[in-house]
Amino acid sequence: MSDDALFAAVMDPANRADPYPLYARLRERPVSRQRDGSYVVSTHAAIRSLLFDPRLSSEDLPPPRRPRTGNPLKDLILNPIKNRISATHRPFIFRDPPDHDRLRSLVMREFSIARVQALRPRIAQEVDALIDACRGRGEVCLVSDLSYPLPVTVICELLGVPRADEPRFQAWATQLATAVEPDARHDDATRRQIVGAFDEIAAYMGDLIREKRRRPTDDMLSGLAAPGPGGRKQMSDFDLLSTAVLLLVAGHETTVNLITNAMLTLLRHPEELERLRADPERAPRLIEEVLRYEPPVHFRTRKALGTITVAGETIPKGAPVILLFAAANRDPSRFQAPDRFDPDRGDIEHFGFGGGLHYCVGAPLARIEAEIALVALSRRLVAPRLAVDPPPYRPGASLRGPEELRIGIDGTA
Ligand code: HEM
Repeated sequence: MSDDALFAAVMDPANRADPYPLYARLRERPVSRQRDGSYVVSTHAAIRSLLFDPRLSSEDLPPPRRPRTGNPLKDLILNPIKNRISATHRPFIFRDPPDHDRLRSLVMREFSIARVQALRPRIAQEVDALIDACRGRGEVCLVSDLSYPLPVTVICELLGVPRADEPRFQAWATQLATAVEPDARHDDATRRQIVGAFDEIAAYMGDLIREKRRRPTDDMLSGLAAPGPGGRKQMSDFDLLSTAVLLLVAGHETTVNLITNAMLTLLRHPEELERLRADPERAPRLIEEVLRYEPPVHFRTRKALGTITVAGETIPKGAPVILLFAAANRDPSRFQAPDRFDPDRGDIEHFGFGGGLHYCVGAPLARIEAEIALVALSRRLVAPRLAVDPPPYRPGASLRGPEELRIGIDGTA
């Protein structure tokens, strides 16, 4: 395979279960031009330098385009207005400074460690309830039985979404997650579905935001909706809406993948599962190593705002750039024996949560959720073993994770 076709092979679902040999090939050239004109960056040093480079923009989404409906009022007036609103109020993961920094700092103020820590009992209760529901079974599917439902419940709790409305969020989270996959952006049917789900959740969230402004409660959405200094809104309603949707989308499938990838890796390394069962204090270091070794987010895309020279290669202005975090996480010039799962490695500066300006705001929450889930699973699943290895994967190459993870058990404790 030629070097300029390697990323197309990464996108090919046939390589989803083990993309790492392709990443090793890509790392031979830290910045590799692909046939479609994009540049894939795959070494630790090159990604590190670009994450702090202001010439690399996150504003790389194509313009929103709602499909024609045949209704002239919608096609000529309403949808063009909605498209314009969506274009100017993108979630801050797709924005550059200064807008990015302003919105992010408002979110960070609400996403306090105290608020995240306060979710611990609720997460533990939910994990226990999900495992209790598997009682009497000889096999569980980790994804549908635990990893998938848990993060939505937690985000709803964080935002202040009433429990009764949670099932609708499960469905929206699934559809909106595809929005961050670059291949989905160019597929008309998928784009239509994403826009449809976005319009539905936007209508729901609009009502909820109005309610939080009228009757604030102790949750993140109420905090963001509260008036700022001088009684002015801290965020416009549209920015608040796109921020709430971002938190749901960015915090869902990623956390699903972390819990699932962690359990898959532990079942492939049963001695580590046993050590965790005996000593739950090992959970944080296990999770950090999973974030390096089998990260939930394999890459993110950017656009070059100017000509950039990195690792001896020149990226021209306007070119799409792919930061291949998962390849950098196994870069032998940064990590010793990078293909070995070793929770005891001391040096673990991974890109599991990205880096630089856009470093994940939900990292502390994701770590706590995964920690509680893994400790409970290690203690409560009796004699767990993989029923199928490798498991089937969902199509996404960026948010990469198993579609299901069937685990044989001798009951639950
Ligand atoms: C294991 C779980 C998670 C992983 C692996 C993960 C990974 C990432 C990565 C790699 C980025 C960087 C994106 C970029 O550079 O373009 C990011 C950003 C972000 N994440 Fe997470 N994430 C996780 C969980 C969460 C959770 C639970 C939330 C919120 C509830 C969240 C909210 C965000 C937001 C809002 C951003 C954008 C930050 C910005 O643009 O400044 N994430 N995440």
